[in-house]
Amino acid sequence: MTQTVVKFSELKKKYHDLIAVNDLNLEIYQGEVLGFVGPNGAGKTTTMKMLGGLIKPTSGQIEITNGNGSLAKAREVPSELYRRFGFLIDIPAFYGHVTPRKILGYYCRLLGVPKEKIEKQIEWALKIVKLTRWKNKKIKEFSKGMKQRLGLAQAIVHEPDVAVLDEPQTGLDPAARIQVRKIMKKLKDLGKTIFLSSHMLYEISEICDRIAIINRGELIAVDKLVNLEQKMTKQEIGVELLEPINPNNVNKLVKEISEKIKAFSENDDKIPVVYDENIPGFHIYYDGKPSSRKNIHKILTSDLKLPIIGFSRVRTSRLEELYIELVENNEIKYTQNNKLKRR
Ligand SMILES: Nc1ncnc2c1ncn2[C@@H]1O[C@H](COP(=O)(O)OP(=O)(O)OP(=O)(O)O)[C@@H](O)[C@H]1O
Ligand SMILES: [Mg+2]
Repeated sequence: MTQTVVKFSELKKKYHDLIAVNDLNLEIYQGEVLGFVGPNGAGKTTTMKMLGGLIKPTSGQIEITNGNGSLAKAREVPSELYRRFGFLIDIPAFYGHVTPRKILGYYCRLLGVPKEKIEKQIEWALKIVKLTRWKNKKIKEFSKGMKQRLGLAQAIVHEPDVAVLDEPQTGLDPAARIQVRKIMKKLKDLGKTIFLSSHMLYEISEICDRIAIINRGELIAVDKLVNLEQKMTKQEIGVELLEPINPNNVNKLVKEISEKIKAFSENDDKIPVVYDENIPGFHIYYDGKPSSRKNIHKILTSDLKLPIIGFSRVRTSRLEELYIELVENNEIKYTQNNKLKRR
């Protein structure tokens, strides 16, 4: 049975006139990695800060697990329960003159780790983030990525059951990013729950069990990636041509193909075709139906007699496409609603 470890109900945060988080309803399940994505300013950090008790909600409720399979209001639980959580929120800031050993030791004491276990926990966390060698070095000598990794170590040093990580991969080089991805997988294998915000959609799709998308403070989707993908109405075909098209003819050709495609594909793109001289070829956006794909192929080959050497569905950045589609639709809805309100 799925147990809920965090439950946000009608959670709202206002900063003066701005609604940063708007009636958020979301549950985080025991043992899952829940990805939290959305554009800059969507309300991810604000949500995590409210969960961590760093800022107060304007209204609504946060409940967290009390360890006995039931939920308790976050504001009313004893602080011990919060020790089952680990937080990395926003960009971690450390004093330059202290060492990882000192700072992690401090956190361990604060979080109630028994004295005799502290050294072991520090070793464990530093090993995970690959900073063992730097244990006794001053933080002012650290690069941005190393500080970020130390932030991650600080979030997990007491082996919390639930890790709340706000963009833990920011500022990391590709190797370190892969490392962090592995850390997440490891934590997951250990049965930990992870609530992870990120702009790295590939990373998210690789490690998350479910994905929550937020825009302008509103949750616009939450589900497993496969289920979200089924909601996609727009798909892309990459078309590669044997040779580039004469620049003088590009606009006319793009217009012609667009009009033909719009006759059958229910895609709301104004121009479903983009010419890309780097391929050379086209990016074609359509409604994803096999019959439409066939029609598009026919238009390009039989009707227009283009020298096609590649025709394939683009599959690489599915979450990216989905994200853009959902956020764009939400933006349109938001603008329409506001127009109606103003009338
Ligand atoms: N202390 C504050 N005072 C006023 N407005 C704030 C404050 N903190 C955040 N905001 C606003 O609340 C909204 C949500 O910000 P938040 O930091 O939660 O976004 P985010 O989703 O984490 O974005 P990013 O991806 O850029 O980190 C933004 O419009 C931001 O300007
Ligand atoms: Mg943020």
